[in-house]
Amino acid sequence: MSILAWLEASGPARILAQSEWLYPLVNAGHIVGIALLVGTVAALDMRILGWLGRSIAIADVERLLRPLALIGLGLVIVTGLSLFSVQATSYAESTVFRIKLLLIAVAGLNAALYQTTTHRLWHQIMAALSLLLWLAVITMGRLIGFR
Ligand code: HEM
Repeated sequence: MSILAWLEASGPARILAQSEWLYPLVNAGHIVGIALLVGTVAALDMRILGWLGRSIAIADVERLLRPLALIGLGLVIVTGLSLFSVQATSYAESTVFRIKLLLIAVAGLNAALYQTTTHRLWHQIMAALSLLLWLAVITMGRLIGFR
């Protein structure tokens, strides 16, 4: 049995799949995580681009929003893996799902590269890219169910 089939047949995945209220609750948790993660990252990106809060130092915005972004990231990972476990084999075969994971990886790499430079123009390019990438991740996430 492959690891994906094992995951799908596991107790927690079966309970989640069969529960009338647990699945929607975990799904709602995924959305709350997305709101926290993408909302805070987008606010920081827009500050870096100079579209809002120009009187507030970027470092202050970062300090304020980072803990919320990390809570959101933790929530999307835990709830995302839980949702994934319900139909692991078919999600793993889905091109849309794979593109979504790839885009998440690229967005993560972009965020890591941001820390490696202090150059303002690079920061602005990375902030614009970050906005586009997270929008694409949300779009792909929404598309999974329709493909
Ligand atoms: C990191 C940021 C993430 C974002 C922005 C995101 C976005 C989304 C969105 C917008 C949906 C659709 C929700 C709905 O229509 O109710 C979704 C569903 C889903 N996500 Fe994520 N997601 C993220 C991370 C993850 C991760 C890490 C995993 C698993 C490894 C995951 C697995 C899933 C699954 C299995 C679904 C249900 C798809 C379906 O059948 O409709 N997500 N996600």
